Amino acid sequence: MGTEVRWTLDDIDLSDLDFWRRPWSEREAAFKVLRAERPISFYEEPIIEGTSMEFPKGPGYYALTRYRDVATASRHPEIFLSGPGAVSILDLPSEMVEYFSGMISTDNPKHARLRRIVANAFNPRTVRAVEESIEHVADRVIRDAIDHGTGDFITDIAAPFPLEIICTMMGVPRSEFATVLRCSNIILSMGDPQFVPEGTDAVLAYLEAGATLTALMEELGQHRVDNPIDDITSSLVNAEIESEKLTQQELASFFVLLVTAGNETTRTALAHALHALSEHPAQKARLVEDFESFARTATDEIVRWASPVIWMRRTLASDYTLSGTDLKSGDKVLLFYNSANRDEEVFDDPYRFDVGRTPNEHYGFGAPGPHFCLGAHLARREITVMWRKLLAQAPSIHATGAPVQLASSFVNGINHLPYAL
Ligand code: HEM
Repeated sequence: MGTEVRWTLDDIDLSDLDFWRRPWSEREAAFKVLRAERPISFYEEPIIEGTSMEFPKGPGYYALTRYRDVATASRHPEIFLSGPGAVSILDLPSEMVEYFSGMISTDNPKHARLRRIVANAFNPRTVRAVEESIEHVADRVIRDAIDHGTGDFITDIAAPFPLEIICTMMGVPRSEFATVLRCSNIILSMGDPQFVPEGTDAVLAYLEAGATLTALMEELGQHRVDNPIDDITSSLVNAEIESEKLTQQELASFFVLLVTAGNETTRTALAHALHALSEHPAQKARLVEDFESFARTATDEIVRWASPVIWMRRTLASDYTLSGTDLKSGDKVLLFYNSANRDEEVFDDPYRFDVGRTPNEHYGFGAPGPHFCLGAHLARREITVMWRKLLAQAPSIHATGAPVQLASSFVNGINHLPYAL
């Protein structure tokens, strides 16, 4: 970890987008100071740049930076609510929260119902079909990349691979893949100029992207009601019991959640893996030599190291004292998974990238609780399959330049990463 920046507590402003434009080593150093000196710190709401839309100024939020506090918040969903919004610091109108974030921003009893329906659709038959498609898609993506020999790891491999898996899983036709990619980029980039062109209103672009994905899925859902096939969308709209199926609107929200939750995150993990393996050749050599012995631990270490989702939000349902800090009903807290994943109270030498790390109870997929990542199994599988194949077919693959970071506090994204085989 870089020690070049010496932060003092009052210099750290997690609401300042410039903080998130800093190199990872500087960000890591700031969180180290927070964990040690002010593990629950308060920040004013961020200013939303690039939009003419007006949002009421919110009350600010507390940042939970220690593993144990993130765990407590996740384990008490009756006190730490997701319903007011899990993926936005701003309080958005409730219809917008529901429309865009689906079950990730709901509480019981609604959350339990949605999660049950969706979990049922991931039955052994559909999951097996998805697993087969992971192998095929990985083979094709790698073949195309090998033909080029050099390029941008994000556009050649890390982005198309999970996108195609999720679209295949839901039965989205290939002709719509590019639209899905463009819209999910806009939704998750939160105004990064690479995805939202200068002069375009970032919030309007976001709303438009959500509406496009929703329309696409509503059309597909309706089609599957009339012509069911063996895919997840068909199971979601045609469940046996009336009360146990998703409405068209719920299906669309779930799809927006899947493409955003499942796409950018896996892409981010795959890209960080190339960067980390290039910077830690001894760890890469261990994998090239004996991938199978490290497949499981390496995959989890990649997710811990990358921490693709930086935070999720909770809102207090009642007053609660968390590790000595008095929180009031209505207060907002952000669960900083990136920081929990470097907590020296839990991880031995947390800044060491170790493909054999064990134990590794990281919070990359969220902490234990009802919202724990629904796609963790799928994501792990995608990461393992892609790296198994890449290291077998192109063991000399390496990054040839520095990663270009996404300017975001929410996704630890990489926009570009040049590579060669
Ligand atoms: C490396 C990749 C991934 C990471 C780091 C990741 C991370 C997360 C995190 C941190 C949460 C929130 C937990 C909470 O609020 O407590 C979450 C929830 C979720 N993830 Fe993932 N995820 C990944 C891949 C996927 C994939 C591939 C899918 C698609 C199937 C997916 C679907 C979801 C869904 C639907 C939820 C909401 C679950 C709920 O509210 O019950 N994720 N994920």
